[in-house]
Amino acid sequence: MSDLIEIPEAPTATAAAVLRRDFANLRQRVYGHPLAYLDNAATTQKPDIVIDRIHRFYATENSNVHRGVHYLSQQATDAFEQVRATVANYIGASPSEIVFTSGTTHGVNMVASGMAQRLQPGDDVIVSALEHHANIVPWQIACERSGATLRVIPVDDGGVLDLTAYGELLSDRTKIVAVGHTSNAIGTINPVSEISRLAHEAGAVVLVDAAQAFAHGPVDVEELGADFLCFSGHKMFGPTGTGVLFGRRDLLEALPPFQGGGDMIDTVSFEGTSYADVPHKHEAGTPNIAGVLGLGAAIEYLRGLDWELIQRHENWLLETATEQLRRLSGITIVGTAPNKASVVSFVHHKAHPYDVGTVLDRMGVAVRTGHHCAMPLMERYSLPGTVRASFALYNNGADIEALLAGMHKVESLFS
Ligand code: ALA
Repeated sequence: MSDLIEIPEAPTATAAAVLRRDFANLRQRVYGHPLAYLDNAATTQKPDIVIDRIHRFYATENSNVHRGVHYLSQQATDAFEQVRATVANYIGASPSEIVFTSGTTHGVNMVASGMAQRLQPGDDVIVSALEHHANIVPWQIACERSGATLRVIPVDDGGVLDLTAYGELLSDRTKIVAVGHTSNAIGTINPVSEISRLAHEAGAVVLVDAAQAFAHGPVDVEELGADFLCFSGHKMFGPTGTGVLFGRRDLLEALPPFQGGGDMIDTVSFEGTSYADVPHKHEAGTPNIAGVLGLGAAIEYLRGLDWELIQRHENWLLETATEQLRRLSGITIVGTAPNKASVVSFVHHKAHPYDVGTVLDRMGVAVRTGHHCAMPLMERYSLPGTVRASFALYNNGADIEALLAGMHKVESLFS
């Protein structure tokens, strides 16, 4: 605990402390300080049940899926397909609409690359100024290949998308609206249902980058009006190298495959190849089986949580960190949208974000610094980058105290 600022205990502290016990990696010290892990938007920590599931697969179940008649292969296939059903159930979809990917970036590229084959000069693709590069660059490539035009929904000074300007961008030329659910860089939660409704009225398809959503609560594709939705396992307490592309069945059927290879075919001959039904048409090659099983364990973990309580806890973390940082001199918060996930991005008036991150690191506080793979957003605010503290369900008041103590140190070193 910092001897500089003591903050009162969260009303939800006991529940968060119980959850924190599930995450062994949080029990370590860094440079002699208890670890204050505030880089959850980059990747969350993994609960023991996820780690154990991956270990169990390799130790006792390892085999390939969809290929063998033997016992182990059948067991692995059943377990793998069971995760597909678990994911589908969790997001309100059908198993045939769930494609396993290596992460959000992979999913967006699959859709953008397939759509590039259908887009034409005169068509528009709309993204927002809040997007991560993973939901910008694949669309730029698709537009370069097809001659379509990329248009951008502007964002205001506080980090809120301008829906009036969005309405003006939409037309019968709009073929796809690709928008983030929650900004990784500044935490804004976008009004995705409204964005989808307007896109659908214009006859466009909607892709939602939900990478930052799942750590903060359940996601329902129907409620969001998503035609495609991508997310990453590692940002929702699951393993790296795993992810999901949800697509409406008719759209997945129409989407050309991103990769060819084993497991995605019906028949192959040198005269031509026919593809397997969805979702397998989009899953060439041996998948990350252990990772998918770990992802399944993460979803089971998420399913057992009291989200109303966790959201209260995360709101407390967000409000307390924001309020306390504002009290310190020399700090400006970047991103003040009324609807925000527990992400606090800020700059110090004298110290470069990288220097702030280095001082914090030496005090055991893990934050991300820089442009957060959202360079256009940083440019919008004329900043080289920010310091980002991103909270998850296991963070607590002591983590905020460590962050504040670190910022006191920064102020004393740089002012
Ligand atoms: N997209 C991840 C982040 O925001 C890596 O840190």
